[in-house]
Amino acid sequence: MNIIKTVQQLKAYVQEEKRLGRQIGLVPTMGFLHEGHLSLAKRAREENETVIMSIFVNPLQFGPNEDFEQYPRDLERDAKLAASAGVDCIFAPSVEEMYPEPPMIKMTVTDRTDKLCGEKRPGHFDGVVTVVSKLFHLTEADQAYFGLKDAQQFAVIEGLVKSLNFPVKLVGVETVREEDGLAKSSRNIYLTVEERQKAPHLQRGLQAGVQVAEQGEKDPYRVQEAAREYLLAYSGADLDYVELLSYPELKELERVEGRMILAAAVKYSKARLIDNIIFSVNEGK
Ligand code: PAF
Repeated sequence: MNIIKTVQQLKAYVQEEKRLGRQIGLVPTMGFLHEGHLSLAKRAREENETVIMSIFVNPLQFGPNEDFEQYPRDLERDAKLAASAGVDCIFAPSVEEMYPEPPMIKMTVTDRTDKLCGEKRPGHFDGVVTVVSKLFHLTEADQAYFGLKDAQQFAVIEGLVKSLNFPVKLVGVETVREEDGLAKSSRNIYLTVEERQKAPHLQRGLQAGVQVAEQGEKDPYRVQEAAREYLLAYSGADLDYVELLSYPELKELERVEGRMILAAAVKYSKARLIDNIIFSVNEGK
């Protein structure tokens, strides 16, 4: 497996893969890989001749009070895991390599960001689309793989690809979970023992809301509240948000119908966790 740190080396690598007529799959990550990332890499491996994984903690998507400096980094460990998942090439640039000059162009996402995490993290998705656009260009990926745990991110990147006509097919991959249902996340390591025991209630609270919708409730507020009440009772965390919205548009609903997302973010002492369920209900109910 190649580990490439410069744009110049990456371009040469991509050029050669393209010359050989190989289809390229890109797995963008910020490293500190867990099984969620590896499931993206394995899927990319199955569906492409060449798999490039980017590992880059992107400063543009962190707010001033967020954990950019503390975000865990371990390239040696990541390289072993990526190789075991069949990755051909890791692109791990420095910040200076990725952003050599002060930005001349600023990307601003104008839709799908006023709810969920976007509302709490102004500028976050502007940073995500900037780095993802650069990665799409640099890798010339035919397909790019993203986890659906970050469902808002997937919806925003879908909008990016459509708006700017990127010639890449997006693949959304289901969330990988621990046995008790907690979504895998690099931030789970910050949970205390007690918090770790309670954290699976995040997914169970969302299931409680979806169950209410599946039982025929048509008022979005009641579905949301069922999840909120469960989370307040059992998660042991502060609730950041619980929202039921249309998906992927992320608009408020007047009625429980169509494709929807029930999503929540909760705060433990040192970790903010997110999770969601994307679902539709049987219109007959
Ligand atoms: O999901 C992530 O890890 C990041 O937001 C991404 C897509 C790699 C962009 O930095």
